[in-house]
Amino acid sequence: MFNARPESSNETMEGCKGVLEPEGIATKRSMEVTLGKGVVCVTGGTGFVASWLITRLLEQGYTVRATVRSYPGSEGNRDISYLTDLPEAKEKLEIFNADLDKPESFNEAIKGCTGVFHLAHPANYTNKEPEETVIKRSVEGTLGILKACLNSKTVKRVVYTSSISTVLYSGKDQQVLDESAWTDIDYFRSLNAVGNSSPIVKTKTERAALEFAELHGLDLVTLIPSLATGITIDFLPGRIWYT
Ligand SMILES: NC(=O)c1ccc[n+]([C@@H]2O[C@H](COP(=O)([O-])OP(=O)(O)OC[C@H]3O[C@@H](n4cnc5c(N)ncnc54)[C@H](OP(=O)(O)O)[C@@H]3O)[C@@H](O)[C@H]2O)c1
Repeated sequence: MFNARPESSNETMEGCKGVLEPEGIATKRSMEVTLGKGVVCVTGGTGFVASWLITRLLEQGYTVRATVRSYPGSEGNRDISYLTDLPEAKEKLEIFNADLDKPESFNEAIKGCTGVFHLAHPANYTNKEPEETVIKRSVEGTLGILKACLNSKTVKRVVYTSSISTVLYSGKDQQVLDESAWTDIDYFRSLNAVGNSSPIVKTKTERAALEFAELHGLDLVTLIPSLATGITIDFLPGRIWYT
């Protein structure tokens, strides 16, 4: 289900795969090899994939700093007990408030971490906001996160969750899509896909992230998930998930 672009990393495809296993969830073996036990940051901690990642990282003994976006007008009232009630969370989960609209808001969460998993993504599936606004938020937010990683001097690897939509629309008749495949934004626009600029946002963000990493020698792995689906962590045994 997950693929990865190894271009900006010295890792082979096999090595990249070790960062997140096919289910999209880190395994004990892979994380020990990659990061060692330490403090890692997960952006977009409330999300579907991120909350599973946090669950597994905690199980495996990591201290996790999860960034969460406060909803306007509900600061302090947001129920994230599905994260804070996880086993080990009391001792090992820290919640930080950060928003892609304020890239520097991620600095505090990233300072001192050995690894960063960047999953926060501004969904705009119904195009409520202008495309340019969402691109700016995603690209500048991501570059801000990468800058914080660089400045930290402690982050050894960053894993950015990109999307299959960054490779699907190349406009070429490619039978095999590997790490060399990229969505051609002009071609995608010519398809007149209604109400979804996500492939454009993700393609621009991943390209910008890889360029930044190459320029600054940052170890960045980008993952290319297709469709990640399944139960949410509220369904874990022993959790109360309905009222
Ligand atoms: N699920 C899939 O099938 C799939 C496929 C391909 C790629 N991906 C990628 O994998 C990653 C995780 O996907 P997912 O399905 O787990 O996503 P998700 O459940 O929609 O979670 C997205 C996360 O991003 C946060 N976010 C949105 N806008 C933000 C902002 N302005 N500042 C900070 N955080 C913000 C959301 O916070 P709120 O809770 O506050 O909204 C949420 O925590 C994303 O990067 C996505 O593009 C997912």
